[in-house]
This record gives sequence, structure tokens and C-alpha cells, in this order.
Amino acid sequence: MGDSVKTAVILGARSVVAQALAREFAAEGYALVLAGRDTEEIGRIAADVHIRSQQPCTALAFDATDVGNHDTFLAQCEEILGGLPGGFVLCFGYMPEQKDAEKDFTLVQRIIDTNYTGSVSICERVAARFEARGSGFIAVLTSVAGDRGRQKNYLYGSSKGALNVYLQGLRNRLHAAGVQVTTIKPGFMDTAMTYGMDLPKALTASPEAAGRAIFQAIKKGRDEAYVLFMWRYIMMIIKAIPEWQFKKMDL
Ligand SMILES: NC(=O)c1ccc[n+]([C@@H]2O[C@H](COP(=O)([O-])OP(=O)(O)OC[C@H]3O[C@@H](n4cnc5c(N)ncnc54)[C@H](OP(=O)(O)O)[C@@H]3O)[C@@H](O)[C@H]2O)c1
Repeated sequence: MGDSVKTAVILGARSVVAQALAREFAAEGYALVLAGRDTEEIGRIAADVHIRSQQPCTALAFDATDVGNHDTFLAQCEEILGGLPGGFVLCFGYMPEQKDAEKDFTLVQRIIDTNYTGSVSICERVAARFEARGSGFIAVLTSVAGDRGRQKNYLYGSSKGALNVYLQGLRNRLHAAGVQVTTIKPGFMDTAMTYGMDLPKALTASPEAAGRAIFQAIKKGRDEAYVLFMWRYIMMIIKAIPEWQFKKMDL
């Protein structure tokens, strides 16, 4: 993470993890744009970040699926922050119940439009700008669900898996330009997305711990980071199970 431009944009800012991350950036002296669909609520979040840190923090409307508006959105970010931001963190995501999505393709379409198409639309536009400048960081919250397709979550998982592959290629492209691309694979986090799920405590990160881990991964210039380290090993084991055996498992 280059310190020359201490400004950042956080997309999907109503997520409690995005909020914790915003506080980490602000505490380190970053001016921020917090973007998402519910600008009224994000306005309150931005005011809270500003009061705690005294750093400029502005709410801005953003819809990942409105790809026709993404260039305008980036121009607005530049106007607010006084130039091309130092970095972007993509925290938005959509995960309906897999069983509901299996019966209704509009939900599947929304998963792909939000998690994959929306992310690629923003990343491509930011990549071109950062490549021309020769600096910047892009961090994206994907998912361990993208590491291997499972019957209980493959519609959401495949959108994140495609995003993982996209980010590998983008990192490869932007390395020579000095632009950092960080793939964050959170594992379980205690947020609205997992509300009501019976998650194992030891494998579930609090929003604050996740915010800290994500900020450190960006700061250290990591290529890929799991929020809780155990997930790297869990996924190594899950990925190593042969397909003939995996297909018989109820995962
Ligand atoms: N929680 C977990 O265990 C877990 C695990 C792996 C990965 N993740 C990923 O972590 C990230 C943060 O999620 P979370 O757990 O904090 O869940 P969350 O509270 O549901 O946050 C997701 C955010 O994405 C925003 N969003 C959805 N569709 C959008 C769109 N079209 N345009 C703009 N914003 C949109 C939502 O905005 P609204 O507030 O307007 O609905 C929401 O604030 C996501 O990428 C998620 O896939 C989470």
C-alpha cells in the first residue's frame, strides 16, 4: 500500500466489516469515501468515522449492478478526494439462500451481476487509471466458497471463484505497473450475511477482527489473505479431497 495518496474508497460500506475497515483506514490518517446503496445510513456511518478520527469521510451512492454509471461514480470519488484515490476496497456481496436461488434464476442472475460483473466493472475501470498512474491498491472480499464448489453454496461460491481467478489475472497484469491487488478470503464472519446461521465460534471472525486483518493484509501488500489463518489449512484439505469422493459428501 503506497502511502503517497492517503485516500481510499470502500464499496459496500453498510457491511459491518466495511465499517470496521473504515475505522482502521481513518485511524491511519486516510480520507475516505464510503459508498453503497443506502446513502442515508452510510451518511451516519461516515459521520461516526469522522467524529472518531477527524479524517474527512464522505458517503456516496453506489450500486454494483449499475455498471453504466461506474465511470460517473469514479469521477465523483476523484472530485470528493481531490484526485485519483490511493486505493479501493470492494466489500459488497450478495448471497441468497442457495435453495431459493435453485428455484428462481433471477436470484442467480443477481448473484452474478453483483458479485462478479459488478466487481469486474469497477476493478477494470480502476485498473486502467492506476496502471496509468503507476500506483494504487485494489482489495476485494471474495470467499473461501470460491475455492471449491459445494452443493450447499455453489451458486454464490462460483461467482466468488470466478472473481478469484479474475483477480489472479489482474494482479499479474498490474504487478509491472506497481499496483497491488489483494484477494481477501474471509471464511466465516459475524455479519448480516450470516445472521441466524449456526457457525462454529472458533472459525468465525468478529467484524472488528476482520477489519483489522483485512487492513493489515492491504498494508503488508499481500496477494491473498484469509481473515482467520485456519481457513487456509481447512481449504487446503477441502481442495485435496478427490472429486470421486467429494461428490458423495454432503457439503
Ligand atoms: N459474512 C461472511 O461469513 C462472509 C464470508 C465470505 C465472504 N463474505 C463477503 O464479505 C463481504 C461483506 O459481506 P458481509 O458479510 O458484511 O455481509 P453484508 O452485511 O450482507 O454486506 C454486504 C454488503 O453488500 C452490499 N451490496 C449488496 N448488493 C449491492 C449492490 N448491488 N451494490 C452495492 N452494494 C451492494 C449490501 O448493501 P445493502 O446494505 O444496501 O444491502 C451490504 O452492505 C461480501 O463480499 C461477502 O460476500 C462474507
